[in-house]
Amino acid sequence: MAFFRKASEVFGLDIGSSAVKALQLREAGGSYRLAALGIAPLPPDAIADGTIKDPPTVVEAIRTAVAKAGIKETDSAIAICGRELIIKKVQIPEVPAKEVHDVVQLEAEHHIPFAIDEVFLDYHTVGQHDGQLDLILVAVKKSKVLEYAAVVEEAGLVPTIVDVDSFALGNQFELNFPEEQGEAVALIDIGASIMKTNVVRGGSTIFARDIPFGGNNYTQAIAQQLKIPFEQAEAAKLGRDVGVRWEAVVPALEAVSRELSLEVQRTFDYFASTAESERIGKIVLAGGCSQLPGLNDYLSSNWGIPVELARPFERIEVDPAYAEEVNAAGPALAVAVGLALRRPGDKGK
Ligand SMILES: Nc1ncnc2c1ncn2[C@@H]1O[C@H](COP(=O)(O)OP(=O)(O)OP(=O)(O)O)[C@@H](O)[C@H]1O
Ligand SMILES: [Mg+2]
Repeated sequence: MAFFRKASEVFGLDIGSSAVKALQLREAGGSYRLAALGIAPLPPDAIADGTIKDPPTVVEAIRTAVAKAGIKETDSAIAICGRELIIKKVQIPEVPAKEVHDVVQLEAEHHIPFAIDEVFLDYHTVGQHDGQLDLILVAVKKSKVLEYAAVVEEAGLVPTIVDVDSFALGNQFELNFPEEQGEAVALIDIGASIMKTNVVRGGSTIFARDIPFGGNNYTQAIAQQLKIPFEQAEAAKLGRDVGVRWEAVVPALEAVSRELSLEVQRTFDYFASTAESERIGKIVLAGGCSQLPGLNDYLSSNWGIPVELARPFERIEVDPAYAEEVNAAGPALAVAVGLALRRPGDKGK
């Protein structure tokens, strides 16, 4: 613990495929206040298939978001998501604490589809029984971390903490809803291109999975069905007046929502195969796509469990000057809030 030194602070830098969000929180006496917020949009092809295709454009968006926020500090917390990230629950025999690291290294080789020297490995303990330790193993391709770190550094910042989108989502949920200690809750962030799922119980992740599905699937379906450009389809999806009637958009939205529900089903089936008789009590949706009208009701009626929208600022004081932006972006800021809560040297998740 740094008793003598104020722990250095980092701000959250969420590099999403549709926008960069820079968000800073200040803590005083255990409560948080939103201190800075800046969002800069990205064109759809700058980050695609989880890869930074156009680094200069991403660097520029990072600079813009940080400048809009008025953030002067350079230490940031960023996050990785997608295919090059493997999160798995594994069991190892109970061994003395100092040996866990080595046992995890050996065990990881069986679970990771990449060469072990190509990944950064991390883990946290989630349970202990019958001489076994349950761990959540996290492995991410080094090249993916370096790819994201490079654009951050190019923008004149330091990627002090590299986290995982779904864990940041969990971190945010724990701050805002600490009383949720009972049933497992499925946190699902649906961004523009990747859906991140994090099943938490009692403040710990018990399952996490990312799949390539998001708001762009809706936009592409609209564009195809109505034979209009992506940009116009995107605006129509957001309910803007671009010469497309809402009723014309609805069939495409419904078709994609059915697909999305199937993807959630697959994820839950997979979860059920890894966790013994664990019931998911509710779903909390985050990410911009969660604001699609009716999506939460649709999923709720499909699943027979409550589906709520994330409220990332439930326990964060928001100055009226930010109220409009925070209201508009809402659940899309969940990951940025989770990242902004991180401090160097904290345990992370
Ligand atoms: N009101 C709304 N209705 C429907 N969709 C919305 C709305 N607001 C935002 N979206 C969609 O949400 C997506 C952007 O969400 P978000 O900012 O969470 O994504 P991201 O973090 O950039 O992407 P990812 O995390 O997948 O890389 C876009 O597809 C956008 O069209
Ligand atoms: Mg995102």
